Amino acid sequence: MRVVILDEKSDVDRRAGQILAQQIQTVPDSVLGLATGSTPVGAYNELLRIYEAGEVSFRDCTTFNLDEYVGLPPDHVQSYRHFMQEHLFGKADFEPTQCHLPCPNIAQLDESCEEYEARIDEAGGIDLQLLGIGTDGHIAFNEPGSSLASRTRVKALTQQTRTDNARFFESIDEVPKLAVTMGIATILEAEKILLLATGENKASAVRDTVEGPISASVPATALQLHPKATILLDKPAARLLARKDYYEQVEFIQRELEQNDALNHH
Ligand code: F6R
Repeated sequence: MRVVILDEKSDVDRRAGQILAQQIQTVPDSVLGLATGSTPVGAYNELLRIYEAGEVSFRDCTTFNLDEYVGLPPDHVQSYRHFMQEHLFGKADFEPTQCHLPCPNIAQLDESCEEYEARIDEAGGIDLQLLGIGTDGHIAFNEPGSSLASRTRVKALTQQTRTDNARFFESIDEVPKLAVTMGIATILEAEKILLLATGENKASAVRDTVEGPISASVPATALQLHPKATILLDKPAARLLARKDYYEQVEFIQRELEQNDALNHH
């Protein structure tokens, strides 16, 4: 796992937006895995800034979001479809038919989950998966205890997640109890993974993810098994890491190598 510690949330936003843009500039028909929640909004804003500067186009991209609440209509202001439209898709040249979110068909939930997996396969798999992390260590809505071999399915949200997400609703009673989510095995199949975590309230989940044993009790620890997972942190989110100095040292060496590599090619 590449652990990158930056000073502030705005640095994480900028770096994440640049990584996403670079992916699309290099492979214009990239398949992106996208996240919602408050964490990626700054990265999407940076990506949109790069788009508005005419440096990237999403015309040929395909996207798959991690999750969607069960029971909210797609035009509900808190549905993730609505969130993506507001924060990204509606502000750039995405091809709407290429932007996928799990579509919970209450009558046929199993079929709609299988179909989502099949669509990801048909698109050739995810090239770059963006992730946030829950305070309980969830990724997507794979709550603690989720099988590390899980695939897209319906999950009940924990009380902790419903409490954390109540800030987006009028009250906690309105937060849905179920969501459709990509599984951990689905996420691990992405070619590259970029996890963003900012703020003090993510510090213990980050410590467990990076330095704890792999366990279904902290689903994000499964990322330790991925060969190309990067975690971008601001200082408050990195606060509890025991090997913080080492990650900073490795990152310094890595940047130097990248710079030398860039020099060698010019
Ligand atoms: C959202 C998602 C969730 C969030 C996590 C953190 O699509 O998959 O796992 O990334 O709940 O949410 P924020 O960013 O709001 O702290």
